[in-house]
Amino acid sequence: MTLLLSALTDQDTAAKLLQAGELVAVPTETVYGLAADASNPQAVAKIFVAKGRPANHPLIVHIGDLAQLSSWARDIPAQALLLAKAFWPGPLTLLLAKADNVSPVVTGGKDSIGIRMPAHPVLLALLQQTGLAVAAPSANPYKKLSPTSALQVMAGLDGRIAAVLDGGDCSVGLESTIVDLTSAQPQVLRAGPISAAELETVLGVPVSAPKSHNVAVPGNVKAHYQPGKPLKIFNKAELLSALQQSTDAVICLYQSAEFTDLALPHSRQLPQDKAGYARLLYRSLFEADTLPGSQIYLEQPPQTPEWDDVNDRLRRACS
Ligand code: TXA
Ligand code: MG
Repeated sequence: MTLLLSALTDQDTAAKLLQAGELVAVPTETVYGLAADASNPQAVAKIFVAKGRPANHPLIVHIGDLAQLSSWARDIPAQALLLAKAFWPGPLTLLLAKADNVSPVVTGGKDSIGIRMPAHPVLLALLQQTGLAVAAPSANPYKKLSPTSALQVMAGLDGRIAAVLDGGDCSVGLESTIVDLTSAQPQVLRAGPISAAELETVLGVPVSAPKSHNVAVPGNVKAHYQPGKPLKIFNKAELLSALQQSTDAVICLYQSAEFTDLALPHSRQLPQDKAGYARLLYRSLFEADTLPGSQIYLEQPPQTPEWDDVNDRLRRACS
């Protein structure tokens, strides 16, 4: 049985479970994470079992205090401190050389480590209360959608983890940007809420953009972030004609106002702005899985750089 814990009254229970080496799903501003004490390899190993995740996929370590950085990374470049100052707490993961004492269970055997300070008051309070750093991937079964609410975590992992700490709906809704600082030029390995252009502004040097499904990020596989139902993506004209031809019941997720006039059952309009859209995307796909209708039709969002992270996740969700 998995406990559903309230952030208001049960923070101590969550702290005790983590300290005892149990798995607790925790809220972050991006998506819920499946947390274990990062200094306890037996606890971290349970994450891979609960998710069904291959052991060579490294985990991100979440810290609550900048002073913890040097316990997890070595040879920390000045660029890391500049980015931490500008974007932490926040949705940016720094890839650095790992400190010698970090267990290979955390890093999937790699010599680098991903670290971030999450911007969620509930998780920050928990990290600060316990003094722990937690290793946490997204709290979904392997290849499924990342959860943005406690109930979505429960839907995927109930019975496989000790508890979920409910901190409400995630405000960002998409996974963090991952930037690799271990080689000469900073490189974004996973597009996310913080763009390469924003990183360049702070660093004053070029930052290379991600290649689609970068093999330097184990687990950055092509088919990922998938809803239970087949997802098809169309531009506006294609979607209008697909809806006219479709005899099947479909769930339609769209941005253009034209689709509202069609009064389709089980359809939903997504926000025009990137941040609003990202916040609701996974939630809407989760919801689509629970509605009648055998397929999800989605209107392709804008293809501009601002929408890179959304388009990256959508490509994987439909592949
Ligand atoms: O927003 C987020 O980043 C969320 C929240 C919970 O913090 N976490 C998250 O973790 O998305 P996960 O494990 O689902 O995705 C992290 C990705 C994985 O594809 C992993 O392989 C990659 O980051 N990664 C982590 N450490 C790495 C390393 N040392 N080298 C290369 N890739 C790494
Ligand atoms: Mg994930």
